[in-house]
Amino acid sequence: MSQTHQTGGHIVNAGDVLIVGAGLAGLFTALKLAPRPVTVLAEAPIGDGASSTWAQGGIAAAISEGDTPEEHAADTIEAGAGIVDPEIAQLLAEEAPARIQDLLSLGVPFDRDLEGRLTVGLEAAHSRSRIVHVQGDRAGRAIMEALIAAVRATPSIHIVEGFSAYELAVEDGRVAGVFVRPTGDMLPSPLLLRARSVVLASGGSGGLYAVTTNPLTSRGEGFAMAARAGATIADPEFVQFHPTAITGPRDPAPLATEALRGAGATLIDEAGMRFMKAVHDDAELAPRDIVARAIARVIQEGGKAYLDARDAVGDRFPTAFPTVYGNCQLMDINPIRQPIPVAPAMHYHMGGVLVDADGHTSLPGLWACGEVASTGAHGANRLASNSLLEAVVFGARIALDILRTVEPSHDVPRMPMMKAIPRQQPPSPIIKELRQLMTNYVGVVREETGLRHALREILRIE
Ligand code: SIN
Repeated sequence: MSQTHQTGGHIVNAGDVLIVGAGLAGLFTALKLAPRPVTVLAEAPIGDGASSTWAQGGIAAAISEGDTPEEHAADTIEAGAGIVDPEIAQLLAEEAPARIQDLLSLGVPFDRDLEGRLTVGLEAAHSRSRIVHVQGDRAGRAIMEALIAAVRATPSIHIVEGFSAYELAVEDGRVAGVFVRPTGDMLPSPLLLRARSVVLASGGSGGLYAVTTNPLTSRGEGFAMAARAGATIADPEFVQFHPTAITGPRDPAPLATEALRGAGATLIDEAGMRFMKAVHDDAELAPRDIVARAIARVIQEGGKAYLDARDAVGDRFPTAFPTVYGNCQLMDINPIRQPIPVAPAMHYHMGGVLVDADGHTSLPGLWACGEVASTGAHGANRLASNSLLEAVVFGARIALDILRTVEPSHDVPRMPMMKAIPRQQPPSPIIKELRQLMTNYVGVVREETGLRHALREILRIE
C-alpha cells in the first residue's frame, strides 16, 4: 500500500489539482480546468516523450453530412469484439464534434477542402469517412504544438518538467499526492507533491515490448502505481497491436498509418498476392486485430508482409503522408516505387485503471484519462482514431467533475521552480530481456504454455 510517510524527504504543496503526465490527455484536462490552478508533472520537456505527439491517425467524429454519433458509436461497439460499454461509446461519439471545435479554437489546423470545410478520411472498421487529420499524417504533432502553446500562455497552469512520479501517496483512504524523482534518477530521500486531487494521465506501456510504435519511456508506471495503491485495474491483457509498423532496425518502429489503407493501399505477400481478401469481407479495412493476426500469420509461416501504396498514393506520398514518407526515406525505402515491409507492433493499451463516465477511479481523489485509463470505450479492440478522441472527451469530463465536486481551497500552491534535465539511460539488459519476452510470449497470438513461461521468467527477472 502506498504511504505518505517515507523516511525523511520533502513535501511540496502542489495545490488543488496535480496532473501526472503532459500528453494530450493531461494538457487538455489542465486547459479545461483553467483558471483553477493546476500543476502538471512532465517527465521530460512538455511534448517530448508523449506518444500523443507521434499519433499519425487523426480524431474520429461524426461531422460530415449524413453521419451521426449513433453510427460512430455502432462502429466503435462492432470493432470492440462485443465488450464495449454502449453508453460510453455513445457519449464518446456524441461529444466528439464539440471537442473538435475546442481543438479548432485552440488553433489546431485540421485539413480543409477548397470550400473551407473540414475534410474527413476513412480508416479501418469505420463505416464512413469520419477522421479529421492534419497534413495527412501529422495530427498528433500539430495538436500537441497547439496545446503546448496554449498551456504556456495560461497563467493558472504550473509545469514541473523533468520529474517522474513513482508512487501515489494515500492518506486515510484518499489519494493525497504523488512521490516524484528526477526522471532517470534516484533521490536519496523522497519528494512528495501533495495535492487534493490527482489526475493520472501518464500514458501506456508500449515500451515493455521489443516491437512497439510507442516511446520507450512508456512502461506502464501509471498502471503500476494505481494498482499498488489499491485502484481497480480493468482488462490489463487488452493490448492492441498495430498491423503496419515498418520493419527494420529502428526502435521504436515507425508507424505506417492506417489512413494509408483508408486511401486504398493494399497488403501483399512476397509473391505480390493480396492476402486479406481471403480473411475478411472488408479485406485491408477489417478491424485492426484481424489484420494484425493475418500479418502475424504470414510472418510466422516464414513469409513477409508489405503495404503497397504505389497505385493508391504513388507520387502524392511525400505531401499526403509526410511523416511516413520521411521515415521510409530514413530506412532507404521509396514507397512511391516499393511496397513497405510491415509487421504488427504493440501500439496501444486498452485496459488500464478503471474509471467511470467522469473519469473517476475506484480511489477517492484519483481520476485517470488517456491511455492509462480503462473507460469501456474500446472493449477488446479499439477503433482507429478513437484514442485521441477519448483523451479529450474524458479530459473535459474530468475537468468538469473536479470543478463541480472539489471546492477550491484558496490554498496557494507553494511550488518552487522545479526543473530537472532528464538523464538518458541506455536500456538495461534486464529491460531488453523483458521486452523480448513480452513480444515473444505476450504478443499478437498468445497461448497458455507461452503465457506460463512468460510469468515464470518475469518472476525470475523480478
Ligand atoms: C494510425 O494512424 O494508424 C493510428 C491511429 C490510431 O491508433 O488510432
